[in-house]
Amino acid sequence: MKPALIVALDVPSVNEMEAVLNRLPDSIEWYKIGLELFCAEGPAILNPLKKRNKKIFLDLKLHDIPRTVANAVKTAASHGVQLMTVHAIGGRAMLEAAAEAARECANPPKLVAVTTLTSLSQEDFIDLGIGRSLSDQALSLGELAVSSGIDGLVTSAHEAGALRKKFPGALLVTPGIRMPEGDIGDQKRVATPAFAVQQGATHLVVGRPILQAADPASATAAIFSDMKNAP
Ligand code: C5P
Repeated sequence: MKPALIVALDVPSVNEMEAVLNRLPDSIEWYKIGLELFCAEGPAILNPLKKRNKKIFLDLKLHDIPRTVANAVKTAASHGVQLMTVHAIGGRAMLEAAAEAARECANPPKLVAVTTLTSLSQEDFIDLGIGRSLSDQALSLGELAVSSGIDGLVTSAHEAGALRKKFPGALLVTPGIRMPEGDIGDQKRVATPAFAVQQGATHLVVGRPILQAADPASATAAIFSDMKNAP
């Protein structure tokens, strides 16, 4: 499977999203819509992307009782979404219900699980009553998600290699991508497109390096070219 580039549409309104889409090259096939834009505009936010025949990664990080999550997956799929996130911490019954709901859809979306939010620290784990390390937690929640029928995981490119060995068939979605000379912004652990691909990422999520580039088309071309440079 050829790794895909997903551009994160981290803007507050449909007008700003349209403006961004008009500046970006047609070579971008995938876009990510997150909670901010979805809460602001509702499912209608997907229409400009569908009109342009784009693939949609709806990143709502679902976490609720199994029935609610299953119904949310079905409804989102009916809006024409190809990839969605759930929280692995929702547990086996929730993950299995989400996976089953996706499989039953006319156009089944793929589901990827968030194991541990990158904003959490080991001190947060103490507050949450979790005794194990961040990496042990991520690995065991990854195992839970994949064994529950979830298609893949959201991960830093730095953990992708280990996850690829453990889960050979899983989708691995990696944010935190920067070109070698790029500004890292608030990301702590960044990786180049080539490194992410080399570690086994199937989908690379990129926001600011494209959205804030003076020339988004050449920034996109540079990222595609780096992805192809992976050994
Ligand atoms: O602008 P940047 O390339 O850093 O954007 C990365 C995107 O990936 C943002 O939408 C961000 O919310 C998302 N993300 C992340 N780190 C995670 C999970 C998601 O940066 N662990």
